[in-house]
Amino acid sequence: MKRIVILASGNGSLAQAIIDAVTSEALEAKIVGIITDQPHAFVIERARQAHLESYIIPMHSDRDFWNSELEKLIAALNPDLVVSAGFMRILAPSITEKFRIINSHPALLPAFPGAHAVRDALAAGVSETGTTIHWVDAGVDTGEVIAQEKVAVLPTDDEETLHERIKIAERGLIVATIASLLPTLEPVRG
Ligand code: GAR
Repeated sequence: MKRIVILASGNGSLAQAIIDAVTSEALEAKIVGIITDQPHAFVIERARQAHLESYIIPMHSDRDFWNSELEKLIAALNPDLVVSAGFMRILAPSITEKFRIINSHPALLPAFPGAHAVRDALAAGVSETGTTIHWVDAGVDTGEVIAQEKVAVLPTDDEETLHERIKIAERGLIVATIASLLPTLEPVRG
């Protein structure tokens, strides 16, 4: 069974979609840990309810220390795939070079990278945005695109309504992408 580690910083609705897919066996994988940088993130409660291990690595004033703690934890969990699902931190090259990591981003990259993708798309007045699943490299949402899905921007949209519709697309696309990627990944040693 392929091993997945999820990284999440907040509500964790994308993480929940992955948990649900594994629970229903729509996704053949084992979630070996959910890691967050936010001690009060709701994703911790989601992990508890699903009887999954969660780990908190709060940001530290010494960023190198934080990077190293995160790297050691991921290594100990020995994942085949790391899924960044609403994790609001840039990962250090030492991490992106060592593990296979994908990220779900709420825009059609390369448009609107960064932490405010939905707000930026609205401000730009585009009629269409969406979601991108991409490999994570050391840049800000610069890694190779794996899959995308478009979402129309409605004239009545504000950031919250648009983000909610994008997240519906994200939940389906992240699960489908993990399902198609896992069989292609060589098992990790360890
Ligand atoms: C998702 O829209 C995800 O793409 C975004 O945070 C949201 C998490 O939602 N991530 C980023 O913007 C990363 N740059 P959730 O907490 O409900 O899963």
